[in-house]
Amino acid sequence: MEKLKISGGKPLKGEVCISGAKNAVVAIIPAVLLVKGRCVIENVPDISDVESILKMIEYLGAKVNRIDKNTVDIDCTQLDTYIVDKQLAAKMRASYYLMGALVGRFGKAIVPSPGGCNFGVRPIDQHIKGFESLGCITDCGENDDVVSIDGAGLCGGDVFFDVVSVGATINVMLAATLAPGKTVLENVAKEPHVVDLANFLNSMGANIRGAGTDVIKIEGVRELHGGTYSIIPDQIEAGTYMSAIAATGGDAIIKNIIPKHLDAITAKFVEMGVNVEEYDDSIRVCVDKPLRKINVKTLPYPGFPTDLQPQIVALLSTVEGKSIVTEGVWDSRFQYIDELVKFGVDITVNGRQAVINGGAKLNPAEVQATDLRAGASMIIAALACDGVTKVSNLRHIDRGYEHLVEKLTALGADIERIDE
Ligand code: EPZ
Repeated sequence: MEKLKISGGKPLKGEVCISGAKNAVVAIIPAVLLVKGRCVIENVPDISDVESILKMIEYLGAKVNRIDKNTVDIDCTQLDTYIVDKQLAAKMRASYYLMGALVGRFGKAIVPSPGGCNFGVRPIDQHIKGFESLGCITDCGENDDVVSIDGAGLCGGDVFFDVVSVGATINVMLAATLAPGKTVLENVAKEPHVVDLANFLNSMGANIRGAGTDVIKIEGVRELHGGTYSIIPDQIEAGTYMSAIAATGGDAIIKNIIPKHLDAITAKFVEMGVNVEEYDDSIRVCVDKPLRKINVKTLPYPGFPTDLQPQIVALLSTVEGKSIVTEGVWDSRFQYIDELVKFGVDITVNGRQAVINGGAKLNPAEVQATDLRAGASMIIAALACDGVTKVSNLRHIDRGYEHLVEKLTALGADIERIDE
């Protein structure tokens, strides 16, 4: 079994360069299915979720050519099928974006249930509501294990989402791009990856306005053309390195970022007493005094991201005093605490709230990554504590962090991948 072996206790110093955003690229690759032509996508992170989504579109008939490790050329002039492979779909959450993309391209889609991180129930009722408001007929199968969409009547429509959902916003935007007429989506997600998808589609000829606000308006176009597009930097990867640098009392520059996307994160770090200096496309994170406890509540963008909740809990474990972290997006995103307490941290979870009684010396531990960001949380705790920690179940971490070992090593961490 592969594990990460981390000898912690060393302040992270130097520079780290942030990769393309996972949650943008896993939406933009399915969006390429709407283009009868070639798209070259740049700044693609070299992570296993990208491999999985590329395999899924290859299975559908897309011609995929890796130009280099971060650039991919995809030709969807000819596609063979609108039925997604079951095993491939189960590898990740974003496989459900193939619903919107395939119904836009073929007027029909058959997509088995997606996989991804387990935060309890992950409903897709808002996606279905959106497709139906656009004239589709949907069937979720007897056991909710496959979604069949008949989009013969696909046309523009109005959707007011009951909850702010990244996935539903993206999926319905994909379906509406080529749907005749006007679509108005209200109460949509405003995450940077939603805006990145709209920018990608517009650069290929779509007519989408308002992404990044509460209302997105889409005028259906007849077709999209090919082109070249570069993925935005990963705001969550940047926040993960900010947490690791702060937890080790380090001083490092995080490069290739959009500082605006990190506003909510930076504000919390500053409140804690971390020095954060912003430049055009980089930030310096530096700790020169003991940090203060804080309270955090995760919210949809522009609030503090849920995808950094496990990382900030690891960081707050090193900070003297009682911090309270409230999960405002997912019902069940604290399962990883059972692993984190193996470092000797005092954390009590009550429903959607965790109380972290931080500041005691952390002990090295044998832990596992229970999901992607939980894995990052274990690594941060391991980097912050003296002694050797081993982290297993690396498949989760590999889904979303490009060259993690190399990047942390360049920052002075003692980390290696071992086979045990
Ligand atoms: C995306 O998941 C991200 N995944 C998640 O990141 C992230 O945690 C989440 O957005 C929130 O920011 C990808 O982009 C691939 P949602 P998604 O639909 O789209 C409820 C990571 O670590 N809801 O915005 O699945 C839902 O239960 C991953 O990179 C409904 O009720 O999340 C949740 O409470 C993990 N009905 C809330 O909305 C629906 O139809 C937000 O979910 C859809 C969602």
